[in-house]
Amino acid sequence: MSNVYVITGGSGGMGKAIAELVGKKGTVLLADVNEERLEQTKEELAGKGITDVEYQTVDITDAENVRKLAEKAKSLGTLKGLVHTAGLSPTMADSKRITQVNLVGTGIVLNEFLPLAEAGTVAVCISSMSGHMAPKEGPYKTVLKNPLADNVVIETMEQFAQGNPGAAYSLSKLGVILIVEDQAWAWGQKGARIVSLSPGTINTPMGRQEASQQKEMKVLLDNTPLQREGEPKEIATVVDFLISDQASYITGTDILVDGGTTANMRKIQAGQDN
Ligand SMILES: NC(=O)c1ccc[n+]([C@@H]2O[C@H](COP(=O)([O-])OP(=O)(O)OC[C@H]3O[C@@H](n4cnc5c(N)ncnc54)[C@H](O)[C@@H]3O)[C@@H](O)[C@H]2O)c1
Repeated sequence: MSNVYVITGGSGGMGKAIAELVGKKGTVLLADVNEERLEQTKEELAGKGITDVEYQTVDITDAENVRKLAEKAKSLGTLKGLVHTAGLSPTMADSKRITQVNLVGTGIVLNEFLPLAEAGTVAVCISSMSGHMAPKEGPYKTVLKNPLADNVVIETMEQFAQGNPGAAYSLSKLGVILIVEDQAWAWGQKGARIVSLSPGTINTPMGRQEASQQKEMKVLLDNTPLQREGEPKEIATVVDFLISDQASYITGTDILVDGGTTANMRKIQAGQDN
């Protein structure tokens, strides 16, 4: 049986870069909303020598869709890695849809894939440095950790986001970090690991869209110690490490890959000059 690596958001900027590395280890199953873009990604990967690639269209907010994706993964072999990159940024949708995709979608993906986890399986969920900007111990914590607990999660989170897509994004990404912490026990019971990774500003279609439409992004970039945005490959190499046996004692935690932006923004907000 082949080792299978599922990548949600598989035709996105990070998804593709991750597929390029992970595709050297086994079968890649790309999942995204648009069939044409998936086909195109498969061709691009073939041009780079990655040929063991399957794909399936999926909307991660639809549990039935995600169940079918998990079934397809199971039919291909042993689930070695689940890399969940699918998400929407603040300029892409309204606050409710952002919560639905980034928070509830993450809950659904993990819920449907946990049954496939076994010793050696690793799940990596892409959060964001924005998730580090919302206070972790806020009144929303219980709701964020349990996005499938009831059908009023979207309405409840809306009370905190107040219709602001940026706030919904930040809270949904804090949710990803909290869900991963919370689920480490369940995945650990199977000998599996689960980690979140929080990128800073990355040069992908999403990153470029946010940079061109949100002036706050320039402030973040200007205050980034490494003085540049990150490249998708710089996220992919960390994911590649996290799903490898080299990272065998890392679970239930978040890894910030942001060029130092979060640390420096905290310093500035505390009123300290550089
Ligand atoms: N680019 C950045 O600067 C940045 C920074 C921090 C975090 N992130 C996070 O990284 C992840 C990957 O982002 P990216 O930069 O590659 O963006 P991207 O827009 O290039 O890729 C995201 C992919 O997710 C897919 N997607 C969206 N909604 C979906 C749904 N309902 N079902 C299935 N697929 C869906 C999109 O079609 C797209 O291909 C996202 O979760 C994003 O929030 C990005």
